[in-house]
Amino acid sequence: MAEKNKKLRHVGFIMDGNGRWAKKRNKPRTFGHKKGADAIIDVLEECFDSGVEVVSLYAFSTENWSRPKDEIDTIFDLLGTFLKKYSKKLFEKKSRLVISGDLSPVSKELRERCERLMADTAHFTDHVLNIALNYGSRVELVRAFNSLKDKQGDITEEDISGALYTKGLPDIDLVVRTSGEMRLSNFFLWQCAYAEYYFTDVLWPDFNKEQTKKAIEWFYSRNRRFGGIENA
Ligand code: IPE
Ligand code: IPE
Ligand code: MG
Repeated sequence: MAEKNKKLRHVGFIMDGNGRWAKKRNKPRTFGHKKGADAIIDVLEECFDSGVEVVSLYAFSTENWSRPKDEIDTIFDLLGTFLKKYSKKLFEKKSRLVISGDLSPVSKELRERCERLMADTAHFTDHVLNIALNYGSRVELVRAFNSLKDKQGDITEEDISGALYTKGLPDIDLVVRTSGEMRLSNFFLWQCAYAEYYFTDVLWPDFNKEQTKKAIEWFYSRNRRFGGIENA
């Protein structure tokens, strides 16, 4: 395969285990989310310093609405605080913010913060931070197919990729899921078609630069064949 396919361009994190991390410490789940939000900045720094172009973070799924309201409110509040803190870094590192997901049910304040930051960073090309917020891959695909239903002629793979929230971004090369669960939970199914999957028992609030480095090193130890044969 071409050398470019070996490069780690896009990492997706399924940040799981905040609740169990808190439970182990006899704390409320919301405490785990707070610690989980704190862990993100170092992970992003390690990825971007290692030459990764795009990082996708699973922050809130379409299925997470089934949780208690106070937990949902806390997750959204923490996200707003994170964005407020991280916006300086986006400008410093010339990074574009993308939000994948339907922002209509979130608070006006959070929605406007997201929309403003997306618009203000739209011209940056060094890195992309893609946050999956009220995101579900099946909803995303249905939305994409609906947007294409009046298209003349056959629908192509490029049409579908271009109708997703991740339009213009490279496919996900590496998925990292913490907390020992081995499932995708509706995370970027189309974009992960040829990803490598790294599962670790570490709970998300304990995930740090060292753990990130380990996941990246593991990725580079993989032999990606893309259906071909080695050294073809
Ligand atoms: C992941 O941690 C964060 C979100 C889903 C928002 P969890 O809250 O799922 O933590 P566990 O899986 O219950 O430990
Ligand atoms: C996936 O984690 C969603 C996020 C990390 C935001 P969940 O904890 O919601 O997934 P399940 O319930 O284990 O599949
Ligand atoms: Mg979970």
